[in-house]
Amino acid sequence: MSLNKNLIEKLIDITSQAAISCYPHLGKGNKIVADKAATDVMRYNLNKLNIDGEVVIGEGELDEAPMLYIGEKLGNTKGQKIDIAVDPVEGTNFVAKNLPGAISVLAISEKGNLFKAPETYMNKIAFGQNVPKNVIDLDNTIEKNIKNLSDYKNKKIKDITVCLLDRDRHFELINSIKKIGAKVKLITDGDVAGALLVSDKKYNVDIFAGIGGGPEGVIVASALDAMNCNFQGRFIFETDKDKARAKQMGIKDLNKKYEINEIVKGDSIFCATGITSGDLINGLKKDGSNFHTETLITHKSENLVSIIHKKYLSK
Ligand code: FBP
Repeated sequence: MSLNKNLIEKLIDITSQAAISCYPHLGKGNKIVADKAATDVMRYNLNKLNIDGEVVIGEGELDEAPMLYIGEKLGNTKGQKIDIAVDPVEGTNFVAKNLPGAISVLAISEKGNLFKAPETYMNKIAFGQNVPKNVIDLDNTIEKNIKNLSDYKNKKIKDITVCLLDRDRHFELINSIKKIGAKVKLITDGDVAGALLVSDKKYNVDIFAGIGGGPEGVIVASALDAMNCNFQGRFIFETDKDKARAKQMGIKDLNKKYEINEIVKGDSIFCATGITSGDLINGLKKDGSNFHTETLITHKSENLVSIIHKKYLSK
């Protein structure tokens, strides 16, 4: 069975409305208020859908997130049983500082098909369309991955670009990439959009690598899967609390490397609306009493990858 494609228009409206709710908070320095506005709007609208949904990736556990918490039931329970992954604002700092690259995102699958990810970091690697699986591996050194890709694509190492979050934890990784002669593209936040840059030649990114949020890893895997790209991830459980939580969630092997189709199975829909313009998609444009939104949508079973423009009346 696949996901009802009539949901697409509704999901676009939901991420668009969540993005629009951030508009008053752009550049106001308060990422929590912006995130709350988008979370409220997303939850309100998801609850109106004809679905029997459950949040598998959300704003946190019930004790830390009153809304869109992991396990929260959404929808009027009349429709298809689905798993929902939400990130109402991906790039909360970008919204607070009015910087490029903030998006409002959600992804859905049929029940049981999206990995219930704990709120921990994940070591990730993503690579582009139709590159065979054996060319790149999370367990290879970055040098080996770059060399393999350069051979496979018949592209000089100096023309290969690796995108990653600009973090101290990536100091060695960044040095290794530079040392071998490839290019780095450093992003300050937003690794969902960052990883999606491997999906099209126009972005000039060959590999996305490094450590970012685990929940973000699951969300982006759904889009990459629909785009015939590849992804591997390994959760990082540092504290005893993390380890205990992982066990509680049914994760037996804490060191497991997950392949893309162990993270997302079967059909999926991914929907991301731009809040502020970035490399991936354009942000909100306000003209008079209208907002214009741009949304990237993928629907795996329909082979759909599209950018949708819509207009909404501002309230
Ligand atoms: P938020 O929008 O929740 O602030 O997340 C932004 C983000 O950059 C993610 O894209 C990324 O996965 C994560 O934070 C990285 O975490 P950290 O900032 O701790 O390195």
